[in-house]
Order: sequence, then structure tokens, then C-alpha cells
Amino acid sequence: MEQGQWREARRLVREAGRVVALTGAGISAESGVPTFRDAGGLWRSYRPEELATPEALIRDPRTVLEWYAWRRSRLSRCRPNAGHRALARFFLKRGEAGLVTQNVDGLHTHAALEEAGDAPPDPALPIELHGAVGRDRCNGCETRWPAEPLADSLPRCASCGDLRRPDVVLFGETLDPEVLERARLLAERADLCLVVGTSAVVYPAAALPLATRESGGHIVEVNVRSTALTEAATIALRGEAGTVLPALLDCC
Ligand code: OAD
Repeated sequence: MEQGQWREARRLVREAGRVVALTGAGISAESGVPTFRDAGGLWRSYRPEELATPEALIRDPRTVLEWYAWRRSRLSRCRPNAGHRALARFFLKRGEAGLVTQNVDGLHTHAALEEAGDAPPDPALPIELHGAVGRDRCNGCETRWPAEPLADSLPRCASCGDLRRPDVVLFGETLDPEVLERARLLAERADLCLVVGTSAVVYPAAALPLATRESGGHIVEVNVRSTALTEAATIALRGEAGTVLPALLDCC
């Protein structure tokens, strides 16, 4: 059964004209980045409503900014793993469709830069649905900058004076409509959606694989356990992304 599933998953990848991948925190777990909802996940020890909502940012900006500064410092020690690299190689080779991530850790971009050895083409670079922790943006006028270390006074936008904050989507905020539309089109037009390391409970990201399926494509799930999406998947491969993805993609 297990071998049959692998054979079938490889066939689906080989025969798909367009492949889209949707990744979540699980792909970065082997790089030492904590997930959100697993044992040891961030939302098991921290309360999102105190740290990751627009209300918390207004009520207690320093606590929110310090929490993101802590996450940035943890991430600065993390490197892409074999899963990120296998996806980057795959999309460098197979430019149809591309990579969509919920992760804000920047590790897909690092992997693409490492694998391409130069400026990677678009399909190998992720569409970052939830933003990027390595960038700041103005809470008012939306100007963006590379993230800077937190100083004693709260960081302010030089143009409008509003708060400078991490360029990530907080709970209760809407996703950038252009970014979401690009991802939705990729998913809708794909023959195959590879869903890696996500619990698939956060929308609208979790709806993307269903868009592939509704337009006649397949879902292949890669996860250590079953998820909200497993029943909709044609094939579910159980295992760590860093092992499963090279084995699945390098030979296709
Ligand atoms: P979750 O923490 O909800 O789910 C992580 C998933 O990864 C689980 O299904 C695990 O079983 C799986 N997993 C863990 N280790 C793995 C490994 N080595 N290989 C493969 N799978 C593994 O994280 P997300 O689904 O990414 O949003 O969470 C979605 C969103 O919720 C995040 O983007 C974040 C969070 O609140 C925002 O910050 C806006």
C-alpha cells in the first residue's frame, strides 16, 4: 500500500503540467523553527490575542514588537533544510505554477537563492501569504523596509509618523488582495497541489488546495500526521518534509 502510494504520488507529480505547492510551519520544523499548533508549538505557550492581533499592537505595541524581535533572533540562526531545497530545485526545473507559503520565516527564499546560485526566477520564489518577519512596514502608509533591531523608543515611519511594525499578517487582518489573487490563480490552474507541513485550519490559505481540486486537479499531502485536508487528498504521504520531498521530487 505504502509503496503503491509513493508510486502514484510520483506519477502525479511527473504527469502534472502545472504544480503548485502550499507550505506551512511543518516544512521549517526540521530547521528548528517552532510550529504553531503541535506539541511545543507557539500557540501552545503564547496567546495570539496578546501578541498577534491589531488590537494588541495598539494596546501594547512594545510587547508585540519584542515578541517579533525574539522570533527574528531565533530565525537568524535557522537555515533552509532538505525540504526547502528540494522544492526550490523542483521549481527551478519545472517553472509551471509555483510556491505559496504561509510561513514568514524567509527560508524558501534562502533555499531558492542557494539552489539557483544567482537571481532565482519567480516560480522558485515563494508567494508569502502571511508576509515576512524580515521586513517592517508602516502601520499607516504601508511603506516597507528591511527589519531593524528594536531600540528604546518605538520605531516610527519617517514619512507619516505611524508605528513601524513587522510586515506580517496579524489575526483579524486581511491578506494583501493582490498576493492572495496570485496564489488563488496558481491553485485554480494547477493540475496538482502539493500541501506540505500545514494543519490546514487557517483560511484563506487552507482553501487553495480545494481550489485545485474543484478545478479537476489532485492534492498530494506531505505531513507527519493527518490534517483537516487529508480526506480531500488523492494521496497522503506520511513523514518529515525533509525526507519525503527530496524522495518525491528529485526523481520527477
Ligand atoms: P501549524 O502549527 O498549525 O501546523 C503545522 C503542521 O506541520 C502540522 O500539521 C504538523 O503535523 C506538521 N508537521 C510538523 N513537523 C513536520 C515535518 N517535519 N514535516 C512535515 N510536516 C510536519 O502551522 P500552519 O499550518 O503553518 O498564521 O499554521 C497556519 C498559520 O497559523 C500560520 O501561518 C500562522 C498561524 O497562526 C499567521 O501567523 C497569520
